[in-house]
Amino acid sequence: MKIGCPKEIKPQEFRVGMTPNAAREAVANGHDVIIETKAGAGAGFEDADYIDAGARIVDTAEEVFATADMIVKVKEPQAVERKMLRESQLLFTYLHLAPDPDQTHDLLASGATCIAYETVTDRNGGLPLLAPMSEVAGKLAPQVGAWTLQKANGGRGVLMGGVPGVNPARVVVIGGGVVGTHAARVAAGMGADVTVLDMSLPRLRYLDDTMRGEFKTSYASKGNTAELVAQADMVIGAVLVPGAAAPKLISRAQLSTMKPGAALVDVAIDQGGCFETSRATTHADPIYEVDGIMHYCVANMPGAVARTSTIALGNATMPFMLALANKGWKQACADDVHLLNGLNVHAGKLTYYAVGEALGIDVVSPQLVVKQAA
Ligand SMILES: NC(=O)c1ccc[n+]([C@@H]2O[C@H](COP(=O)([O-])OP(=O)(O)OC[C@H]3O[C@@H](n4cnc5c(N)ncnc54)[C@H](O)[C@@H]3O)[C@@H](O)[C@H]2O)c1
Repeated sequence: MKIGCPKEIKPQEFRVGMTPNAAREAVANGHDVIIETKAGAGAGFEDADYIDAGARIVDTAEEVFATADMIVKVKEPQAVERKMLRESQLLFTYLHLAPDPDQTHDLLASGATCIAYETVTDRNGGLPLLAPMSEVAGKLAPQVGAWTLQKANGGRGVLMGGVPGVNPARVVVIGGGVVGTHAARVAAGMGADVTVLDMSLPRLRYLDDTMRGEFKTSYASKGNTAELVAQADMVIGAVLVPGAAAPKLISRAQLSTMKPGAALVDVAIDQGGCFETSRATTHADPIYEVDGIMHYCVANMPGAVARTSTIALGNATMPFMLALANKGWKQACADDVHLLNGLNVHAGKLTYYAVGEALGIDVVSPQLVVKQAA
């Protein structure tokens, strides 16, 4: 198969769909890899790294799209990229179609087969191609929160770990999933006094069993949440209700109960945010103040560490990318229901029910599409 990887063109996106290591594996499996020049530059990968791995460098995205059987990317294709997609071409990337009717209609019109990273599943009910970005955002949250707490940034002027004779910062993490666990571990590692709140008792039990002593857990009732938030120097919002907007867990009125200069880091901002006063910000201007409380609400946190994020994403996508290249999408999806769950669009048909429901478009069963295409 010819596998193509264009340079990402979405503003502020520095990741790349294929690492040189992924290219090397694909070449070792007998495939041709075509990379747009400088595609990896934002993540610290030079053209020479890809050439060493056996890939071919081309000058333009047009050449990548014209040549490749499969396109591997990071972000959803932008309008100019969608125009270059061809019938029977395979696209493997994040798509997030439900809130994006324009993209959905363009992908349907292209005739291409589109597999979305975010809906590929694993046998534990997880989302293995979303998890690496949650791990990154979770580990980053206390780091950016600590910076927000510094006096010059409008914060309370509290050091995460304290010093001998001075208490550490109190950090409350709301949501103990992938983001929350990684955030809590880093905050605890920095020496902070950390409590994780979750609505799921099985999840709290798991955290208590596996993270014993590193941080405390508490049930996320309204009363517990209000009490802990009022005492906190930093609150990290890390909840997810799959398929729904994030619930608002701290109201504007509650800000007045908090310590002046406390930091709210809303990682769930990509799902609308879990604090009433959250609004999405960018890496260029990440924090703002409401009622004396500092807010950090960057919607694409992994972009801040593009190299780590690229390598983490590449590790997770590589086995799926190789299965698609080695077997072709039909056989790969027939053999692996978790990859089949990633199929969103095929030859002008929508194959993902939640997207169809959100956009009012008829959906064809992905199993049927695979059977008919075989
Ligand atoms: N801003 C970014 O750059 C970025 C990057 C990655 C992930 N995210 C977002 O971070 C959020 C968390 O992702 P995740 O992968 O950790 O999800 P996850 O499913 O692993 O964990 C979510 C947790 O929230 C808990 N929860 C749900 N409702 C709750 C409530 N009302 N109170 C307390 N806990 C509640 C669930 O029980 C679960 O344990 C998502 O919104 C995700 O989209 C943002």
